[in-house]
Amino acid sequence: MDMAAIAALAPVIPVLTVESREIAVPLARALVKGGLSVLEVTLRTGAALECLKAIAEEVPEAVVGAGTVLNPDQLDRVQRAGARFAVSPGCTRELGLAARSSGLPFLPGVQTVSEAMTLAEQGFRFLKFFPADAAGGLTWLKAVSAPLADLRFCPTGGITPETAPAYLALPNVACVGGSWVAPRGAVATGDWQSAERLAATASALKRR
Ligand code: 3PG
Repeated sequence: MDMAAIAALAPVIPVLTVESREIAVPLARALVKGGLSVLEVTLRTGAALECLKAIAEEVPEAVVGAGTVLNPDQLDRVQRAGARFAVSPGCTRELGLAARSSGLPFLPGVQTVSEAMTLAEQGFRFLKFFPADAAGGLTWLKAVSAPLADLRFCPTGGITPETAPAYLALPNVACVGGSWVAPRGAVATGDWQSAERLAATASALKRR
C-alpha cells in the first residue's frame, strides 16, 4: 500500500502523542473500533517507539505509522519498530531521499508552493499541509488547486470536528489529520468510550 492507498482507508488520521504502551494500545483499539484504522504516533514522547511497536503487534487491524519524523535516523528507527508509514511536518532533501530508498510510504509536510513543487520534483505527490489552519487553511488549499493540480493534501494542524467537513469537501484533500479524536482529558482518564465515539463521528465524515 502506498501513502495514497493508506489515506484512502479513512477520512481522518488521528495524531496521537502517547506516554506509554498501556495507554497506546487501548486507545488504538478504541479508535479502530470507531472506524479510524490509520493511526499516527508522534515521536514526541520518550515512549513513542515502544507505543508504535505495541500497536503494530497488538492491534493488527490498525495501520500504524509514525509522525514527527524529522531525519533519516528517526525514519530508520520507526521502520524497524514496525511503522507502516511515516509523516513529517516538513522535509529535507536527505529525509526525502532516505524515505524513497527505505520503501516506507512517506507523507512529507509543506507550507508553501515552492516546498510543494520541490517535493513533487522528488516524486511526492501526496503531501501533508502543515500547520494547516495557521498557514492559510481552506483558502490556501483552494488557491493552489489549479496551479498544483496533480497534488493531493492531508491538511493537519488546528483542524477541528467543526472545520474538518469543509476541508474534506475540497477536491485536492484526500484526508485530514488531527489530535481531536484523542483529547488529553479522555486519554488521561482512560475514557476509551469517548475516543471511540469521537472516532465514529470522524470516520463517518464524507470526502469529495
Ligand atoms: C501534527 O503533528 O500533525 C499536529 O500537531 C496535529 O495538530 P492538532 O493537534 O492541531 O490536531
